[in-house]
Amino acid sequence: MNQVKFSRLGFILAAVGSAVGLGNVWKFPYVTGEFGGGAFVIVYLITALFIGVFVLIAELLIGKVGQSDAVSMFENLATKHKKIWKYAGFMAVVPLLILSYYSVVIGWIFHYVVLSFNKLPSTVKESTDNFMTLLTSDYQTQLFYHTIVFVLVTLIILRGIKDGIEKINKILMPLLGVILAILFIYSINVDAFGDAVYFMFNPDFSKITSSAIIAAIGQAFYTLSLGMGIIITYAASLPKQTNIAKSAVTISIIDTVVAIVAGLVIFTLLFDKGAESTKGAGLVFISLPSVFYEFGGAGQFLALLFFVAIAFAGITSAISMMEPTVLYLIERYKMTRMKAAIICSLFFYILGTITLFSNITEFAPALQVGEKSFFDWVDFVCFTIIVPIGGILVVVFVGYYMDKEVIKQELTPILGKSLLALWFFMVRYVIPIALIAVILNETGLFKF
Ligand code: PHE
Ligand code: NA
Repeated sequence: MNQVKFSRLGFILAAVGSAVGLGNVWKFPYVTGEFGGGAFVIVYLITALFIGVFVLIAELLIGKVGQSDAVSMFENLATKHKKIWKYAGFMAVVPLLILSYYSVVIGWIFHYVVLSFNKLPSTVKESTDNFMTLLTSDYQTQLFYHTIVFVLVTLIILRGIKDGIEKINKILMPLLGVILAILFIYSINVDAFGDAVYFMFNPDFSKITSSAIIAAIGQAFYTLSLGMGIIITYAASLPKQTNIAKSAVTISIIDTVVAIVAGLVIFTLLFDKGAESTKGAGLVFISLPSVFYEFGGAGQFLALLFFVAIAFAGITSAISMMEPTVLYLIERYKMTRMKAAIICSLFFYILGTITLFSNITEFAPALQVGEKSFFDWVDFVCFTIIVPIGGILVVVFVGYYMDKEVIKQELTPILGKSLLALWFFMVRYVIPIALIAVILNETGLFKF
């Protein structure tokens, strides 16, 4: 492995860049409102700490000790069954798959950045029509922006760890913080702010069911980009003195704060204009654009800030999805970064293009598999099955297959003996079982 390292701040920002994404905007706030507001926030914080942070520490540990690509690290660090453990490293290819459609979605965001200058929809109906037209028939626009994302991501990855990934995150993450702060201050002064606070924090403990807990675990994994070799890969370029426990806590806190602030802003704007809480693409591309319009001149500005912010969040997540495979090709096949980057970006570009056409009514029937579109399948398979399996592999690996002395050496100074014992207990027993419960529940094999 070449010895280019992140700076300490650069690493934190890169990890935050990966973590902060659409999950903070279109998943967390809604899930929170659905599952009992403040009660869910408490459950989520506990999960984020004992599962999110603990798995983050596990992934940072593998990367920091292993210093290579994911496949080589699992192979080299396994105390036995090296040839089998190698395959766990292929989890690092999963994000490239996800990137194929994530790129299309970032493309929509770019399109909406442009729309917020002059063509905000004035009614919910118009807003729905706009988005459905874009999604199901306007492949030219989608392809145009998907191509732009492809070019941007490729250019950043080409410049490598320091001049590419670190630099872009050092620029975009602070800007994202500033934009969020402006949106938040604006929201505090809107009447419905109180309703948004109520929706997100009013605790309803009767809603804390097993599904709520499972949703919290799933959310922690998604939002922290865990279980797919991303953090492992970034951590391979950690500077030596990094305290990985502190880093893990810092990354999770920032990610959670962003999710909560984003939620308050979004629900304030929605509730102020009498709109319902929603989630996903419908929230970002249908509900919000139509309420922005109702805020008049300020609305246009708010829309612009909002879409620019999630464009930044999206791009920094996107590059984190590509780097793991790029590093794998560089390390294992001795490719130049140029060649590796081009192969990976063409792969996601082409797959993304297929995904995009799978939503176009004219072509869709050919690309429909069963009930779901190609797009939905990739999302479903990745996040309900592959990512939890990736998480299980990570914790089983550090819990049973990595050299315990090496782990102790790394973690005792920063965790102390009793926290380390707790961490071992969690990664060996609790987290694997929790993740199996997630898979069973989300696939419907067994409902808890
Ligand atoms: N963590 C990102 C979010 O919350 C999503 C993501 C998943 C990013 C997987 C990279 C890899 O939106
Ligand atoms: Na996130």
